[in-house]
Amino acid sequence: MSPRPNSLAAKDAAFHFHGYTNALKNEKEGGFVVTRGKGVYIYDEDGKEYMDGLAGLWCCSLGFGEVPRLTQAIAKQMQALPFYHTFTQKTAAVTVELAEKLVSLAPVPMSKAYFCNSGSEANDTVIKMVRYMNNGLGRPQKKKIISRVKAYHGVTVAAGSLTGLPAIHKDFDLPIAGTLHTDCPHHYRFGQPGETEEQFATRCAESLEKLILAEGPDTIAAMFAEPVMGAGGVIVPPRTYFEKIQAVLQKYDILLVADEVICGFGRTGNWWGSQTFGMKPDIMTMAKQLSAGFMPIAAIMMNQRVYEALRDNSAKNVAFAHGITYSGHPASAACAVEVLKIYEEQKIIDGVRDLAPHFLKRLHSFADHPLVGECRGVGLVGAIELVKDKKTKESFDPKLLVGANLVRMAHDHGLIVRPVADALCFCPPMVATEAEIDSTFDRFARALEDTETWLKREGHLSAAA
Ligand SMILES: Cc1ncc(COP(=O)(O)O)c(C=O)c1O
Repeated sequence: MSPRPNSLAAKDAAFHFHGYTNALKNEKEGGFVVTRGKGVYIYDEDGKEYMDGLAGLWCCSLGFGEVPRLTQAIAKQMQALPFYHTFTQKTAAVTVELAEKLVSLAPVPMSKAYFCNSGSEANDTVIKMVRYMNNGLGRPQKKKIISRVKAYHGVTVAAGSLTGLPAIHKDFDLPIAGTLHTDCPHHYRFGQPGETEEQFATRCAESLEKLILAEGPDTIAAMFAEPVMGAGGVIVPPRTYFEKIQAVLQKYDILLVADEVICGFGRTGNWWGSQTFGMKPDIMTMAKQLSAGFMPIAAIMMNQRVYEALRDNSAKNVAFAHGITYSGHPASAACAVEVLKIYEEQKIIDGVRDLAPHFLKRLHSFADHPLVGECRGVGLVGAIELVKDKKTKESFDPKLLVGANLVRMAHDHGLIVRPVADALCFCPPMVATEAEIDSTFDRFARALEDTETWLKREGHLSAAA
C-alpha cells in the first residue's frame, strides 16, 4: 500500500534509508512513523494507539513514563556542561558519578567502567581490549573469540562477526577471522530426544571444550555470552549451562564476557542476567535499559585483572590509544544516573519479580495452541515459537514469513511484537501493569487467530489442525 501523499510515511519513503529494513518495500510503502509515546503505548501519525510489546528495542524499561524527571535531569546537565570528552585524563563530573555507581552495582567485583554509545560499540571495544591485554601480557597468539550460534552482539565489523545469525553476515563479508561460534543452548531446538536440560548443558560444554582443543587453548582469548539470547529468539539457557561452560573456560584461562545489553538492569528479575544464571564474568557490556532507552549510552565493566593488563600496556604504549568522541557524554550520563535512581527509589526490579509470574503465566497459556511449539521466558522477557507440526517441531517454510505476517496482524490489533523467524518476542516495559500485560496477550491472541485463519485459507494447515 503506497503512503498517503504528503504524509510523514511518504517523506520517509522518499528520504530515509532504515536499518533492518527492506528498502524497496519502504520506498513503496513508507515507514511506520511514530509521533508520540505515553506509558506503555506509542501513537502513529494518525493518532492510532499501539501497545509497545518490545519496549522499543528491548530498552524502554520505563515505557514512555518518567519523562519530566528525566528531561529535567538532562536539561540541568546540558545547562551546566553539554559536552565533555574522556580522552587524555579528562571527564565530566557526572560521568565519574555514573562509573562509580555502575561499579557499585556489579554482580561480581569489577574495577572500572568504560563508556560507549551503543551495544555494538561496547562489544567491539571489548574485542580490542582483549587483544590489547594479551599483547601486553606477551601472549599475542591468544586472540580468538568464541561466541554462539544465534547470539546477538551487534552489527559493527567485529561485534557483528560475533553475532551468530547468518543474515548479519551475508553480503557484509563477515565474520572476520578469529571469531568462532559454538553451540546454541536451545534445548527445544537442539536437545536430543529424551535428553534432559542438564544433559544438554553437559553436551554444550563438551562441545565447547572440543572446539577449544581443536583450535588450541593458547589461541583463544574470550567467550562472549548473553545471559538470555535476545535477538536470537529469547533463548533461555538450560539448567546448569553456565556453571558447566564456565568450568571449561576457567580450565583454559579464557575470559567470560557477559553481554548484558538486554538483560542488564532488571529484565530477568535481578539487576543482572549474570545473577539470574550464575555467571561470573570478567568483563560485562551493557546499554539499553541503562538509560531506559532515552539517551544513547553503553558501558563496559572489567575486573581488576583485566584492568591491570590494560593499565600496564597503556603505560608501556604511553596511552590506551582507543577512544570515542561521545564516550561518557554528560547528557547521556546524567540520564543514566537518574534512571538508576528511579530503579532504586521505585524498586523497579522488585516490580519485575512481582509481575513476572503473571507475564509468564499468560505467555505459557498459549502452549496448547496447535500452532505453538514452545513458550519460553524468564522475568519479563519471553517468546512464543510457532511451528507447522507440534509433534515433530517442524517449522513453517521460511518463505511463508509466518512470524512477519503475524506481526503485521498484531499491528492491526494495536500491538507491536518482534519476530525472529517464527518466534514472536515479548519484552514489555518493566513498569507495565497486570492489566497491560493482559491486554498485550489478548491482542496477541487475536493476531494468532488471524494467522491460523490465513494459514488455513492458503492451504498451509489442514482444516482440522
Ligand atoms: C545482547 C545485545 N548485544 C548487543 C546489541 C547491540 O546493541 P546496539 O544496537 O546498541 O549496537 C544488542 C542489540 O539489540 C543486543 O541485544
